[in-house]
Amino acid sequence: MMNEKMVAALNQQINEEYYSSYIYLAMAAYLDDSDLDGMGHWMRMQAQEEYLHAMKIFDFMVERGARIKLSAVAEPPFEWETPLAAFEAALDHERYMTDNINKLVDLAISERDHATNNIMQWYVSEQVEEEANVEGIVKKMKMMGDSGQGLFLMDRELASRPVPTIVADGQ
Ligand code: FEO
Repeated sequence: MMNEKMVAALNQQINEEYYSSYIYLAMAAYLDDSDLDGMGHWMRMQAQEEYLHAMKIFDFMVERGARIKLSAVAEPPFEWETPLAAFEAALDHERYMTDNINKLVDLAISERDHATNNIMQWYVSEQVEEEANVEGIVKKMKMMGDSGQGLFLMDRELASRPVPTIVADGQ
């Protein structure tokens, strides 16, 4: 049985993960509109991954007998100044999400909710990967500067991102 504070915090995190999905979908729309289909594809895959992050918490709460309460998802931004600005915003967003996860770990520890702490450790590792992936893209995009050829090659590279999956055992 999960306590009320923990249930409320996890409900909020489901909303945050849905917002993440939504903001990446907005970035996909912006990049598609800029004829950067590979980058748009990468953002679509990221949006799907965020949906899976939300559902992993959803399923965990169901398993624990906690009542899920969905709330309104905020409207994401409509556009960014440049493709680089969009990826920089994605990196800022991932850092924000890492902070959220760390707070959930703190709460799980203070509430002595070991099961939630355990699943949150998966998210701790996932956030290291999430930040590193976006940071790598931002660094490469900064290296290529305003080069159209660089943008073209980056777009082609990001087009190969596979469809994300999260298997049931949390790996
Ligand atoms: Fe679910 Fe990218 O944080």
